Amino acid sequence: MTRKRALTGYRPTGKLHLGHWFGNLQNMLTMQDEYDAFYFIADWHALTSDWADTSRIREYTEDMVLDWCAAGLDPERCTIYRQSDVPEVAELTLYFSMVTPLPWLERVPSYKEQREQVTDKDLGNLGFFMYPLLQAADITIVLADVVPVGEDQLPHLELTREVVRRFNNTFGDYLVEPAALIAKLGARVPGTDGRKMSKSYGNAIFISDTPEEISAKVRGMITDPARKLKSDPGDPDICPLHQIHKLVSPDADDLAWWDQCCRAAECGCVDHKKKMATDLIDYLSDFRDRRAALAAKPGFAWHVLESGAAKAHPVTSEVIQACRRLVRIDEDG
Ligand code: TRP
Repeated sequence: MTRKRALTGYRPTGKLHLGHWFGNLQNMLTMQDEYDAFYFIADWHALTSDWADTSRIREYTEDMVLDWCAAGLDPERCTIYRQSDVPEVAELTLYFSMVTPLPWLERVPSYKEQREQVTDKDLGNLGFFMYPLLQAADITIVLADVVPVGEDQLPHLELTREVVRRFNNTFGDYLVEPAALIAKLGARVPGTDGRKMSKSYGNAIFISDTPEEISAKVRGMITDPARKLKSDPGDPDICPLHQIHKLVSPDADDLAWWDQCCRAAECGCVDHKKKMATDLIDYLSDFRDRRAALAAKPGFAWHVLESGAAKAHPVTSEVIQACRRLVRIDEDG
């Protein structure tokens, strides 16, 4: 039986943090066995919002390949590539732009939201407006059957389906309408300040942080805000420190002990932070070693991307040729 094709992309906007690790990466690891999995780094997507400062895109691209591979994505078992190495994506975006009415893009929720909320970047450019079309082309250029998505990406997938239908109605039924794979919701990981972990909030613990960096960040973490003194009983259920500890502790009895002694006001947050930092550092130590080993291989990330693009190319070139024939730029062949 041939496996269904799944695809997902990440914008190279920084190193991966614990929120990614528990939220998406674990799903990506299982997907590589269950699907014909395509994972790509959406560097053109990063350009759409960061066009005024592109200086770190390559560095972040390399970081992402190292994070992915050290976490267990295996370039032999899945296809890892960079969007900009697949120019067919740009050509398909252009064809999509012909069949897409402007209001379809204007009403995408993430577009409206970001235009209103983002103030430190100029998002008045055409590239950002077309972001969802570029995403539609990413998905369609490999004829992906399924796309694992979180809530926030659902409207993008819905738009993709609409655009594909319109393309197919106009030129002939060929492109695949992708289905959303609502990923098993990963754990919601709080950041060091208790809000959702996010690089843009400055509250992230990166999976590639050094033990020293991890210790320092954990020391600065918020705990139960109502617990001012060690003699105040705390509530582990709302304590970000405890929530992360639950994810990384190797020892359920120890975890239960910290839970109880916090509720009973018998142990303090400083000690709990030390223990949690130790457990987190241990939890990530295999990852850290593998990442260091991969980073020591000169050109490793670029080599992975190059061979991934070579693996994707037979698919993407076949699809773009078929599209060229469908729009009658090329002759039927
Ligand atoms: N928009 C996605 C994000 O912000 C990144 C992305 C680009 C993507 N193209 C995609 C995700 C195609 C899934 C499929 O995270």
